[in-house]
Amino acid sequence: MQEPKIEETAPIVLHFMMKKRVYFYTYGCQMNVHDSEKMLGMLTEGGYAAAAVPEDADLIVFNTCAIREKAEQKFFSQLGRTKLLKRRNQDLKIAVAGCIAQENKAGIFKRAPFVDFLLGPQNIHKIHDVVSGEGQCTAFEDSVDIVPGPANPKRGDRFRAWVSIMQGCNNFCSYCIVPYTRGREVSRPTAGIVDEIRRLRDGGYREVTLLGQNVNSYRSDVDFTGLLKKVDAVGIDRVRFVTSHPRDISTDLIRVMADLPSICEHLHLPIQSGSDRILNLMNRGYSYSKYLDKVHFLRDTIPGISITADVIAGFPGETEEDHRATLKALSEIEFDGIFAFKYSPRRGTKACDMGGHLAEQVKAERLNDILLLQEEITLRKNKLLEGSMQEILIEGRSESDIELLSGRTRTNKIVTIADTGEKEGALVSVSIERARLHSLEGRNVATAGGSTQIIQ
Ligand code: 5AD
Ligand code: SF4
Repeated sequence: MQEPKIEETAPIVLHFMMKKRVYFYTYGCQMNVHDSEKMLGMLTEGGYAAAAVPEDADLIVFNTCAIREKAEQKFFSQLGRTKLLKRRNQDLKIAVAGCIAQENKAGIFKRAPFVDFLLGPQNIHKIHDVVSGEGQCTAFEDSVDIVPGPANPKRGDRFRAWVSIMQGCNNFCSYCIVPYTRGREVSRPTAGIVDEIRRLRDGGYREVTLLGQNVNSYRSDVDFTGLLKKVDAVGIDRVRFVTSHPRDISTDLIRVMADLPSICEHLHLPIQSGSDRILNLMNRGYSYSKYLDKVHFLRDTIPGISITADVIAGFPGETEEDHRATLKALSEIEFDGIFAFKYSPRRGTKACDMGGHLAEQVKAERLNDILLLQEEITLRKNKLLEGSMQEILIEGRSESDIELLSGRTRTNKIVTIADTGEKEGALVSVSIERARLHSLEGRNVATAGGSTQIIQ
């Protein structure tokens, strides 16, 4: 006979033991990272716990990226490996979310019949319903509301947070799949954004990054400049935003960035090419000289600002001369850093159907030219910071040397310092001792928020 005590506690123990576990693979941009945080939040509310490794999971979610073929290949090869897990564990469920799901829809089931659930980036709020369904379930409707239903993301970081301000993109740059997978632009109402940031501030967050494919075209109760003013007034230490479009970034916005203390002195402003002919084919809506004007105005108005960009090598029809124009632009502008990619044809985009696609070898050589030139520039620019004082926000241990701590300057440069007990989330004043290509070496001088402590 069972003791009554055991009868009372058994259902609770059983419930705990039965809690389902979910593991996420996330590919691509910050938007996807944050979408995964939102999906994990919703699943947690629905009774799931995070699994530390895929082998422990009852549900594996792939949040996919379709921007370049390489990202697609990475996902499909991981999906192939996960099939083996499913062979060992018949109860394992697999969900594919994000841009590849949206682009291929049920085509994913054909290619990988062992997948159980599919949902597009505009339907992430349905994750719990979808994974609770019987058989193969999908969710792909176009959503008009940026946060349909409550979104309570389970954030991966305790001091830096992503905040969505809009979804979708109306630009249709000719190479880009995003407008097809994430739909049209919808701005999130201002009050909800400000509220979320207030709650983050109260929860001890130091930094927020406002997210949208083209934040400069944010338009709700206020425009983007108005939003930045409201966000600054919340009183969080650091505010960043991505991504800006060179056509839409206004002198007014640049002045506001300069005036508001929390807005960090960094701008990611994808240039894509230095050739007007290619910019035109890309449907970017600006010329190189217009882009350069904005860079000059940024640097005149916000001293010390760092500017980074994306560059595409080997767009269809790109000639040697066009390529040289891009190299010249890099030399002239001297970005603090760039992300450069070989052009990757995306089915359904205008560029994919253009003539003059280049051989992989040519694209690779051009990418190499771009990267080598930029490395020289980045190192040179970093060296200019030697001897300067910077404020860094400690992120944790350095990835390259676990003895060191690592943080970021307001200009988004990585700085490593000796571990003298600073906690994650602390703002520390450092002097820059040595510049390297990917990071700076600093020396702790003072930690903000406590007594000003000099560490020799
Ligand atoms: N091929 C290569 N790079 C691309 N990007 C977007 N689409 C493509 C493509 N088809 C790059 C752009 C963009 C960044 C997010 O990805 O540079 O700014
Ligand atoms: Fe793609 Fe251009 Fe929209 Fe960026 S602005 S997501 S590159 S279409």
